[in-house]
Amino acid sequence: MNELNQSVNKKIKEIIEEMTLEEKVSMIHGNGLFRTEAVKRLGIPALTMSDGPMGVRKDYKNDKWEDIGNTYDYSTYFPSNMALASTWNPDKAYEFGTSIGAEARARGKDVILGPGINIIRTPLCGRNFEYMSEDPHLISKMAVPFIKGVQTKDTAACVKHFAANNQEYERLNINVEMDDRALHEIYLPGFKAAVKEGNSYTIMGAYNKIRGEYCCESDYLINDILRKQWGYDGVVISDWGAVHNTETAAKYGIDIEMSVTDNFNEYFLADPLIEKVKAGLIDEKFIDEKVERILKLMFKLNVFSEKRVRGKYNALEHREAALNVARESIVLLKNHDNVLPLKDDKVKSLAVIGENADKQHSNGGGSAEIKALYEYTPLMGIKMRVGGNTKVQYAKGYSKDESLKSDLLNEAVKLAENSDEVIIVVGLDHDFDVEGKDREDLNLPYNQDELVKAVLEVKPNAIVVNISGSPVFMEQWIDEAKAVVHSFYAGMEGGYALAEVLFGDVNPSGKLPVTFPKALSDSPAHCIGDFPGVETVEYKESIFVGYRYFDSRGIEPRFEFGHGLSYTKFQYSDLTLIVDNSEEINIELSFNITNTGGTSGAEIAQVYVSDLESSLIRPKKELKAFEKVFLEIGETKLVKLSLNKEDLSFYNDKENKWVCEAGEFKILVGSSSSDIKLERIFTV
Ligand code: BGC
Repeated sequence: MNELNQSVNKKIKEIIEEMTLEEKVSMIHGNGLFRTEAVKRLGIPALTMSDGPMGVRKDYKNDKWEDIGNTYDYSTYFPSNMALASTWNPDKAYEFGTSIGAEARARGKDVILGPGINIIRTPLCGRNFEYMSEDPHLISKMAVPFIKGVQTKDTAACVKHFAANNQEYERLNINVEMDDRALHEIYLPGFKAAVKEGNSYTIMGAYNKIRGEYCCESDYLINDILRKQWGYDGVVISDWGAVHNTETAAKYGIDIEMSVTDNFNEYFLADPLIEKVKAGLIDEKFIDEKVERILKLMFKLNVFSEKRVRGKYNALEHREAALNVARESIVLLKNHDNVLPLKDDKVKSLAVIGENADKQHSNGGGSAEIKALYEYTPLMGIKMRVGGNTKVQYAKGYSKDESLKSDLLNEAVKLAENSDEVIIVVGLDHDFDVEGKDREDLNLPYNQDELVKAVLEVKPNAIVVNISGSPVFMEQWIDEAKAVVHSFYAGMEGGYALAEVLFGDVNPSGKLPVTFPKALSDSPAHCIGDFPGVETVEYKESIFVGYRYFDSRGIEPRFEFGHGLSYTKFQYSDLTLIVDNSEEINIELSFNITNTGGTSGAEIAQVYVSDLESSLIRPKKELKAFEKVFLEIGETKLVKLSLNKEDLSFYNDKENKWVCEAGEFKILVGSSSSDIKLERIFTV
């Protein structure tokens, strides 16, 4: 990582001394929709930024939300952050990071506005697809290598949205209230890891308020927690239009104000700030501090060096990275009677049904949209994969644009009846998984349930594929469907990766980073906490988010956190623990995993900790370690993982600190949060 030496720090101080107030202020607010202003006199360039988490966005005019409309801002469309998280493979996150970092750099950007790491508090949040998980440990383990990868390319990551931006409804003004335990145990750890372990050069302040203060002007969030407690010296960038007050933003908050309008000089940290400094109402030192951090960022990015990484975009290796992530992201939810994988030599005619089979998703969702170089749909991927000996026929089955769907449905059923095998591709699209609004319910739109039921009636072996960025309701047909596969918008190669999984070239190894409930009313945010709230949303469910709630309350979800099947079988054995009870506490655990099935594959072994004696209530179990293990047929591997004091601790809100209490703990090793294979009790 780029640490700056003393001479650079000295130089930065000298530059700041030479700058006029106006020059300094021009560096701390947008002077374009995605850039600040350059100080040409001193050779300081503008800082340029671009969305987002799934690739580098197309270029917009400097002062209008209109595309430039060129032919060279197509880019690699990577899988969504949720798809990345479902690989549970930190190496893949690093590969993703280096690739997207290189693309941003090659497109002349200094900052890529990702990854998105807000906690999935409700399955309805419109931006869930841009985030990673309901679990802070999984988020941390995936975000850190992502960020490190990006920054090897002299591009800054911008981890977002700090903090508690867990819904889109009233996102610009909603005030989030939660207790300290929820804040420290659930909503902050991902950000803490991103800055402390990932060394994210920048972080984006969220739109919403927290405890009555706008996040971008929150003394508590930005000064107390981020800067003092975590020692963060990077740059805080506001979300676009998230600043509301010159004084609080200058004193407590962010370093760069970005917004969505073209009156750049009127931004809170532009002319109004200059006036206030001149009137003696705001100390210029606050501006100097921001400029210092921005200059440090520029030095870290080698902005002034001829040796700065050049980057490249639309490179073959980036498409390979997108494909590799997609392959590992696909989750096999159900596979009765081993109807999957399909055997291509037995399938002479194949029906592919559903609008999502033939739909491209890249160009939607809001700021995460991508002008993709290409995007293989499932239909395209299947046709590419099966080649000329299988007749692939397509029926739309449903359409978002057509109100009368009975013709489409009948046509699809007929096609299904007359085909050897049937793949139905349903789900959501970016009319639902979208920035700016949340879904109203978990239902599949456009009468898709009717379609699935009708097709399953004539073809009980039909395979159902769901593509969505969030959990959906499958209760109407889940018992009848023998095989269900899920994909979270898996990028430009997603359609091909899906085909590889369906035909068994790739053994599925993704696991759910989020719980799929049986009903919305089972979700903690909906049955205990407020959602979406009126002016204020209270997270009354506290730390009981996702599986922490389902588990502790004994509520059976449709598909649990960490669930995902394989075409092979794995056996767990020989759990051993070596507990070192000295001050820092160290637990070395090891166990064997054997591939006992008939094909090579990968298993994600998950380690949960359960605190059996605790003065405060704790979730039944919490994920604290995991490893993705690749195994040939018959192969056994010894998995070694370690836990420390932090992994056993909880946030004691009476004493305002993390504590690890003596007593009994249980280690649970499993294939998912419910499918526990090995367990052992130990004492601290
Ligand atoms: C989004 C950010 C995005 C920014 C710039 C905002 O509306 O919340 O995630 O990076 O726009 O497009």
